[in-house]
Amino acid sequence: MSRYLPDLEPIAREAGALLMSYFDQHIKIEYKGDVDLVTAADRASEKLIVERLRAKWPHHGIVGEEGTRSDTDAEYRWFVDPLDGTTNFAHGYPVFCVSIALARQDDRLEVGVLYDPTRHELFSAEHGCAATLNGEPMHVSKTTRLAESILGTGFPSHKRHKNPNIHFYQQLTLRSHGVRRAGSAALDLANVAAGRYDGFWEFNLNPWDTAAGVLIVQEAGGTVTRFDGAPFRLDSREVLASNSVIHEELLENFGEIFAGRGLEPLPSPVEYAKSRT
Ligand code: IPD
Ligand code: CA
Ligand code: CA
Repeated sequence: MSRYLPDLEPIAREAGALLMSYFDQHIKIEYKGDVDLVTAADRASEKLIVERLRAKWPHHGIVGEEGTRSDTDAEYRWFVDPLDGTTNFAHGYPVFCVSIALARQDDRLEVGVLYDPTRHELFSAEHGCAATLNGEPMHVSKTTRLAESILGTGFPSHKRHKNPNIHFYQQLTLRSHGVRRAGSAALDLANVAAGRYDGFWEFNLNPWDTAAGVLIVQEAGGTVTRFDGAPFRLDSREVLASNSVIHEELLENFGEIFAGRGLEPLPSPVEYAKSRT
């Protein structure tokens, strides 16, 4: 029996419709960091979601990416990403979503919704109930081998020069059918849950990026851990999600890559340029 979804799903849809009213307009981009973008749409969506959550669940805390911090010591806290995929959004690339999740202080995820307003897709899950896509049951893929898998990853918008992910991107590209980099970590997780990706990983994510998607993957039959196989926590920052079947193989590959074993060297562009005729 669904406790939160009947009230939560309309909030995600309303925020998604609000984002669409800004999309494709000449929207001013501001910078929170080097290439960490924010727009009026991010702020308007957070304001709407926070108002709705407060009206419905006044005793819950809220943590929102665009600055909302209220009752963060409360037993139940909402994690809100009002627009995941801001860089895509700001450039008119239609891959972004709204992400809202509720967690207990002990990190148990109670409910999560992700809404993609460009495709009218609503991904939902409540703890212990099956995950759904537009109300229909949704399940992870059945792919059994990394070599036959399609994966997703992402790259951060701050401290980019400190991020080693390009090495993982290269190695896992060579060991799978390919790695996509779509620009919305929340939708990447939704795509694992829907069986469109067999796995996804990223370094340095925040709980508002991951909370809803992680629960949706788990309730769709998938597995989410840190890169060393330790259980995912909201403050983990690193996320490795899969269809469960290839999880062990992914962990082995992460171990090898971190240890520098069996790596295909990155080809040198200088050598390549010299070899061109
Ligand atoms: C970003 C997206 C992106 C991921 C970044 C996130 P934002 O969130 O999820 O896919 O690679 O690390 O910060 O800033 O668009 O909400
Ligand atoms: Ca985000
Ligand atoms: Ca965001």
